[in-house]
Amino acid sequence: MKKLIWLMASGVLLAGCHTDMWRQPKGEPLGENEFFPDGQMSRPLLSGTIARGHERQDEAYYTGVSNGKWVDQLPMPLTKQLLKRGQERYTVYCTPCHGELGNGQGMIAVRGFKIKRPVGNYHTDRLRNMPLGHFYDVITNGYGTMYSYASRIVPEDRWAIVAYIRALQLSQNASPTDADSQALQDSLNPKTEPKSGEGEAH
Ligand code: HEC
Repeated sequence: MKKLIWLMASGVLLAGCHTDMWRQPKGEPLGENEFFPDGQMSRPLLSGTIARGHERQDEAYYTGVSNGKWVDQLPMPLTKQLLKRGQERYTVYCTPCHGELGNGQGMIAVRGFKIKRPVGNYHTDRLRNMPLGHFYDVITNGYGTMYSYASRIVPEDRWAIVAYIRALQLSQNASPTDADSQALQDSLNPKTEPKSGEGEAH
C-alpha cells in the first residue's frame, strides 16, 4: 500500500516536470534586445500615457482652477476631521517657515530665511480675500521663492491644509460679534460630520 502511494505521488510530480512552457524565449523587463535601436527590452511609454485609475479629469480638484478662475469652494465637505488633518499636515510642512499662526514667523524665517522676499504672511487683506484655489495652487506649484510641495502632499491633504489656512485667517481676524454669528454656530455643529472612521488621518 505504501509503495502504491509513493508511486502515485511520484507520478504526479513527474507529470509536472515539463520545462517547455517556462523555458521559451521571452524578454525580461530590464533585459537587452538588439532588435530595438536603443538596445533595451522595455519599450518607453508613449507620451501622455496614464496609468489605469490615475487619470486626472477633475480640473478643479487637481489644479484649484475651473474655467480659468481659482475656485473658492472646497471640493469636499468641511468637517472637523478635514480641519484636523489640515492642521497636522500644515504643522509638518508649513510651520517651519510660516509659523503656527501663518504670520510668516516660523523658526526658519525668524532665523533669517529670506531669499528675495520674506516668507508669506496669510493675514493680509490680499490673502484673506484670495480664493481657496490660490492656496491650493501655491502648495502644488510653489510661489516665487517657495518651492512646490506636490511631491510631498497628496491633493486631498492639500485641500485639508487650504481649509486649515482659511480657519487660521478667520481666527486671527475675528471680532467678538462673530461668536454669535450663524456661520460660526453652523461650523461648530457641522451637519455633515462623517460616520466614524471616515476621513480619519492615516
Ligand atoms: C522653506 C520655507 C517655506 C515653507 C516650508 C513653506 N513656505 Fe510658503 N512661502 C515661503 C516664502 C519664502 C514665501 C514668499 C515667496 C515669495 O513671495 O516669493 C511663501 C509664500 C506662501 C504663500 C503666499 C502666496 C502669495 O500669494 O503671496 C502661501 C499661501 C504659502 N506660502 C503657503 C504655504 C503652505 C501651505 C506651506 C506648507 C505646505 C508652505 N507655504 C511652506 C516659504 C515657505
